[in-house]
Amino acid sequence: MAITIQEESKLFSIHTRTTTYQFKADENGYLVHTYYGSRIEDDDLYQQIPFVDRGFSPNPYELGMEDRTYSMDTLMQEYSTYGTGDFRITALRVRNVCGSQAATLKYVDYEVKPGLPVIPGLPAIYGNEGETLIVRLLDECLGLEAYIYYAVLEDKDMIARSVRFVNQSNETVWLEKCASMCLDLPYGAYDFITFYGRHNMERNLSRSPIEHGISEVGSVRGTSSHQYNPYAMIAEKYTTEEMGRCYGFALAYSGDFAMEVEKSQTDSIRFLCGIHPDEFTWRLDPGKNFDTPQVLMSFSGNGFAELSYHFHQTICENIIRGEWKNKKSPVLINNWEATFFDFDKEKLIQIADAAKKLGVSLFVLDDGWFGKRDSDREGLGDWFPNVNKLGGTLDSLGQCIEDKGMKFGLWFEPEAISEESELFRSHPDWAFSIPGRNPALGRSQLILDLSRDDVVDYLTERLREILSSGKISYVKWDMNRSICDKYSRVLPVEQQGEVAHRYVLGLYRILERLTEEFPEILFEGCSGGGGRFDVGMLYYCPQIWCSDNTDAINRLKIQYGTSFCYPPRTMGAHVSESPNQQTGRRSSLKTRAVVAMAGTFGYELDVSRLSNEECAEIQRQVEFVKNYENLLFHGRYYRLSSPEDRFVAWEFASADKSEALVSVVYYDVEGNQPPSYTRVRGVSPDRRYRVYETGWNGENSFSYVLSGKTLEHAGILLPTPTYEGEAFLIRIEAL
Ligand code: DGJ
Repeated sequence: MAITIQEESKLFSIHTRTTTYQFKADENGYLVHTYYGSRIEDDDLYQQIPFVDRGFSPNPYELGMEDRTYSMDTLMQEYSTYGTGDFRITALRVRNVCGSQAATLKYVDYEVKPGLPVIPGLPAIYGNEGETLIVRLLDECLGLEAYIYYAVLEDKDMIARSVRFVNQSNETVWLEKCASMCLDLPYGAYDFITFYGRHNMERNLSRSPIEHGISEVGSVRGTSSHQYNPYAMIAEKYTTEEMGRCYGFALAYSGDFAMEVEKSQTDSIRFLCGIHPDEFTWRLDPGKNFDTPQVLMSFSGNGFAELSYHFHQTICENIIRGEWKNKKSPVLINNWEATFFDFDKEKLIQIADAAKKLGVSLFVLDDGWFGKRDSDREGLGDWFPNVNKLGGTLDSLGQCIEDKGMKFGLWFEPEAISEESELFRSHPDWAFSIPGRNPALGRSQLILDLSRDDVVDYLTERLREILSSGKISYVKWDMNRSICDKYSRVLPVEQQGEVAHRYVLGLYRILERLTEEFPEILFEGCSGGGGRFDVGMLYYCPQIWCSDNTDAINRLKIQYGTSFCYPPRTMGAHVSESPNQQTGRRSSLKTRAVVAMAGTFGYELDVSRLSNEECAEIQRQVEFVKNYENLLFHGRYYRLSSPEDRFVAWEFASADKSEALVSVVYYDVEGNQPPSYTRVRGVSPDRRYRVYETGWNGENSFSYVLSGKTLEHAGILLPTPTYEGEAFLIRIEAL
């Protein structure tokens, strides 16, 4: 039983394999947080909450004048509210018909249900396992109920939280801020770890001490964004990959979000996570519900590697759905960096033919195949194949690719619209724009108002028709701008604050319908690379293009940051040409492939123009990836060094500890190069392993036998690089 409840004292403990989460409905009726960390007994930690009279921290009226020690301003809370004496960042802020923003939530009752909850219209962990605790709170004055959900995956040390609000009054109430979770930690020297970036350089790790005051990351760009990812960690100061206490939070949502942390006057730490309150207000009429997105939350007492493992396992088994959940992505060729918009049938076939000879099994036709689309200034919205450019119908091109024994994939950017398009000419009101203002252009395009049912239905129908041909095995779902001018022509004035969230619900509706209807199609998410890399999108798209930056050396950092939450099998990664188109850097074909192998492997260059040597090497690479596909897909992933080190190393280890593959890329070569070592993870201490450096064809420079214990503790000496960016693969096989 993951959830234990002491009825008399109203103490709730959620135990997972290695963690305990505890809170209590106290005698004043508030839901008080008491503990989250390594697994403990059901001891009532409420006893350890200090009640002290602190000046300027108000006391609930019903407690009278005698007791000044109980204050919402210092209390550890499960779901904090604004305007009634808690002056920290709070989870809930409302506005009622009188204009007041205050709320107070008190405990009513609870329910424990087997299984995991479905959140209508939103992604959520699923599966035939788990248990859910639902605690009902009520603001009597507003008649507003809050159901706090804790969905528990015991074996994965994962708790997914969300809140459902129900308006039980006769008056409308507006939700102005409703975080998906609130977590109060009583003490500790913690760092806030977030992942920032920009287009072409996503998910750089930022680590700063949590000091007094408020820190926040988030997005109001309508997408989860390149700039900040909706995954954050709170970790004890000295936490490393292998030791230390750390918490991770991944919001299963693809729109505006905020993750805030505050260190209070009493040194406690509060973390909040949910929809960004700017550009959000939800009108909750009598009898209506509102569900927040779900946030996945986990703890590890043994450092970041274990925490990442909790998220990787949950994403692979309880987020990714459909036929592709357990299927490996085919090695693909994408024509984007090879041709951009400048292609015709002959060019596409040339690339496909060359790729086929190399062993590639999926040909992806990127942007430019529809409407009039010869540049990024036109054509978006006109999802009708351009038969002139394609030299025939899309079906005939698909058939031609299939006849070569390859699968065929197609790019879409359904959410966008060009002013220069038939769709815009017939439905200008479908694009976001504010009355009286010109909308900002992003990549010369506008965004369709997906908060509207007619737009959602139109797009679903358009795509359904194209996908119904049966020739399309893969869809790349792109989205190439941040959203502003969020104004819907069909919503009344007082509901304009709902547009951003309704947009995300509209997007999910289309994706849900299409993925359900075409389960055999592999959907890849994309937003100018990794601008919408989040758990929400992974619910529909088992993989996401990690970045438009395909430079192998930059990718080391991008994929490293991404891996803290997201498993490598979800990261789109391709070998592209050298010099790289984004950075101008030259890197060897081997380095490019080693880096792309830490993601869904593919090629994105004009393979019809390669030398014989390059073709021969690519053939060997593809063979190698196919031989190792089980390990790369199912293996446990470890970061062995960080991009701050002289080299970046990572490892895939099989669950039964019988084999592993260590990849190493050196940034630089130095004169009189010092030796580099790495300790190996995921091996069994009592077994003996053969360790050798492998080329694409097998054994290379060295081979020896070591025990698992030695690999773990003494580590291995790595080969010395002879050129900048040199990569090595080290194979570890149990005897
Ligand atoms: C941005 C994507 O990330 C690229 O891979 C490519 O599909 C372009 N869009 C096409 O416009």
